[in-house]
Amino acid sequence: MAHQWIFSLIVLSCALYSMGVDKNNFKTCDQSSFCRRLRAVKPGESKYEIDLDSLQVTDNSVDAKLLNTEAGVLFKFSLTAINGNIFRIQVDEASPLYQRYRPQFALNGEPQVSKLEVLERSKDSVSITYNKNKVIIHARPLKIEFFENGELVSVVNGRGLFTFEHYRKKQEQTNEEGQENQVAEDPGAWEENFKSHHDSKPKGPSAIGLDVSFPGALRVYGLPEHADRLALKTTGPGGVDPYRLYNLDVFEYELDSTMAIYGAIPVVYAHSPKRTVGVFWHNAAETWVDINNSKDGNVMASIVNLVSGSKSENNVDAHFMSESGIVDLFVLMGPTPKDAIKQYASLTGVHPLPQYFTLAYHQCRWNYNDEDDVTSVVQNFDISDMPVDIMWLDIEYTNGKKYFTWDPVKFPHPDVMIQNLTATGRKLVIIIDPHIKRESGYFVHEDSLSNDYYVKNKDGTVYEGWCWPGSSSYLDFYKPETVEYYKDLYSLENFKGTTHDVNFWNDMNEPSVFNGPEITMPKDCIHHGGWEHRDVHNEYPLAHTYATFQGLINRSPNKRPFILTRGHFSGSQRYTAMWTGDNAAEWSHLAVSYPMCLSEAIGGISFCGADIGGFFNNPDIELLQRWYQAAVWLPFFRAHAHIDTRRREPYLFADDVKNRIRNALRLRYAHLPLWYTLFWQHEITGEPVIRPLFYHYPTDENVLDIDNEVLVGNTVLARVISDPGVSSINVYLPGGANEYWYDIEDFRLYHGTGNYNIPVSLDKSLAFYRGGSIIPRKDRPRRSSSLMHNDPFTLYIALDSNQQASGYLYIDDAESFEYKNKKYLYVRFTFEDNTLKSELVDKTDYPTKEWIERLVILGPPKGVKSAKLVSKSLGSVELDAAYSNEDRILVVRKPGVSIREKFTVKLYF
Ligand code: NOJ
Repeated sequence: MAHQWIFSLIVLSCALYSMGVDKNNFKTCDQSSFCRRLRAVKPGESKYEIDLDSLQVTDNSVDAKLLNTEAGVLFKFSLTAINGNIFRIQVDEASPLYQRYRPQFALNGEPQVSKLEVLERSKDSVSITYNKNKVIIHARPLKIEFFENGELVSVVNGRGLFTFEHYRKKQEQTNEEGQENQVAEDPGAWEENFKSHHDSKPKGPSAIGLDVSFPGALRVYGLPEHADRLALKTTGPGGVDPYRLYNLDVFEYELDSTMAIYGAIPVVYAHSPKRTVGVFWHNAAETWVDINNSKDGNVMASIVNLVSGSKSENNVDAHFMSESGIVDLFVLMGPTPKDAIKQYASLTGVHPLPQYFTLAYHQCRWNYNDEDDVTSVVQNFDISDMPVDIMWLDIEYTNGKKYFTWDPVKFPHPDVMIQNLTATGRKLVIIIDPHIKRESGYFVHEDSLSNDYYVKNKDGTVYEGWCWPGSSSYLDFYKPETVEYYKDLYSLENFKGTTHDVNFWNDMNEPSVFNGPEITMPKDCIHHGGWEHRDVHNEYPLAHTYATFQGLINRSPNKRPFILTRGHFSGSQRYTAMWTGDNAAEWSHLAVSYPMCLSEAIGGISFCGADIGGFFNNPDIELLQRWYQAAVWLPFFRAHAHIDTRRREPYLFADDVKNRIRNALRLRYAHLPLWYTLFWQHEITGEPVIRPLFYHYPTDENVLDIDNEVLVGNTVLARVISDPGVSSINVYLPGGANEYWYDIEDFRLYHGTGNYNIPVSLDKSLAFYRGGSIIPRKDRPRRSSSLMHNDPFTLYIALDSNQQASGYLYIDDAESFEYKNKKYLYVRFTFEDNTLKSELVDKTDYPTKEWIERLVILGPPKGVKSAKLVSKSLGSVELDAAYSNEDRILVVRKPGVSIREKFTVKLYF
């Protein structure tokens, strides 16, 4: 009996252990005094007015004084037109007691202003035009309406929630809620105090808030990072907490939640079949965003319509609330999802073309034990004929969690280990976190102390927190000297044992502080320039990875850096890839990997993935296989596992499991040319690499809530299988009867007429080529991507309902910046009138040995007998053509032509 009790207790404590996030560690809106204050602002009572007498209009901007009529405080208001159909609204205090923070890293340079024209000025309003857009600024109270082609598409302060708490002198502050004496009432007494380090006098509350409505919108997307569905849900007092943007290290984060996790991207896109409009709230402080979707029958929505004068039945609105900073709002006028997302990319930048290998398979674990372990893992992949490109080392490779050092016992000869890896075309990624062990004699710590590189407490002493090494301090990436020092740490001279083939993983950079408020740095810590941590918090990981990126550029000037980050902010895409952090080996976590990465992609961060297999706990074999199959279609493709989990490298399993995972890996490797081409296109156009269905099918209402499918470019549609034991799966194929979709495994043709129920065995994953696409693949299995560089291509030509198709292929040296000097090939293929043609898009060249091995035509015309290639160097060559897979495909063998050369292949009947 006693045994049974003990057993039950163990089971119970295990269950409790695995119950997930401890919500007591993290604030709700009610526990955040500024969120509570801003949420309590009553709609329809705005006390802010534009002083139209002060209004000045220049070529590019409208500037005016804005008055808080109740408090008698003046603000500076400006509205500018930005290139590419964007407007920018900025509000700051007219005569601030203290300067307010403006993010320094998010924008990719200062946005270029465009010309606007005044249309009309009355005593109550002024209207301006810019391209097809019109803006009416209403003065009393402040309300700004945005029209596209004559239609109202967005209203700022339509509900009257605009708030700008101005800094006050101490004597003015005593009774205001949110003051220091209020802090003690907050559960957990988080450090939301209001001191300035300059003089240690309270600055007073400095929150800002603003509502934006989108008349006619049906859904709103964006605001990564949340472990949630793609379409944002309605939040509101008494209901769901607002979406919180505050980079946090949340242990065992929960799903379907608006809680903050590691990243913060304050952009939303409101969408309907008619249009898409976005707004980017450019602010780095803690931010909460309430969302209303009128489809929920929300009372608030009717109020919006009433107050904003909108007659539209549908309405979505967002209420942004930040703890500090200025109001800096970009309105992305769309009108399509593609336009709005590209407008955001034009502001915050794109991920530069990564090295080719980074798109291949990454094998990670906390931790590979020693050098032999690393070498033998790769050998086992080879023995099992499974490709792998990159081995990863987590924190245990260091000497006692001191970054930029190696454990002398487990990793005594890193150079030899790395040489073993690179000899077979593999690479290494190692972890470097931003906390520094406070140990005397550790050079980074000593240097940082003596040169003043650390973040400070408000009293000017060095801040100490607790992280992996124990007592740690945190580098202040706002200080130029710290950045210079940090960059040098990555050099080959300073970080002995590393080579140009070693890349880096910047983890724990929210920053994570185990004993800090909400597991992060106290808000009253001070950064260079006198900024409080509260002002810069969400930007800190971006400042960190910016420094790493510069360090890697210095170290290896002609290699594109690869960095993986966990914390992230708008603009992080210019330097890093990201992943969704510490997920769990559960089906629901596999499912959420698609919406999470889709949300990141429309938030500018295309290079996203989730730990394959789940970080915490042990996946069962079915889950692990399904995870590999689904992850093939997310940009960052890495398996990772917690230190307490069982080893799960894919070669460890039974043959049938190995076969399925091998197939998934090979499918990924076959599509590397597609991924690489998409990343190139991302760099030049700003289009995301993966896309939600509404991106390409914006007028189809059925796709509004679909986030278990992902589009890879406009070519592949993949459906995650995230339920155990299924024998069939529902898939939605969009585009109408004339849109063709081909199952990429059996080449069966489906029309884009909606829902299909498709049988699936464990061997089958669900991905489709869109009819009309040409997909260049490399189908010869290899051990790593670098061994595939000279391999020939197979072109998969998926014909549309007009028997046509087109597609692109981008090729360069796979690693350097020479592509910026026109050393690349960008090939466009077209198929029409039974003829395939290739042509170069740009006048460039790259001396590749790659050639075309085969054409596979999906949905081919009937009765083809042969084919003929014509090219300058080969002349005219007869080719074999044969049907296969129940005539679903036609295979044309050995065109044999170099990819550098223009050619045609014509079918003969
Ligand atoms: C937290 C990261 O999310 C995880 O991936 C990593 O293994 C641990 N830190 C240890 O470095």
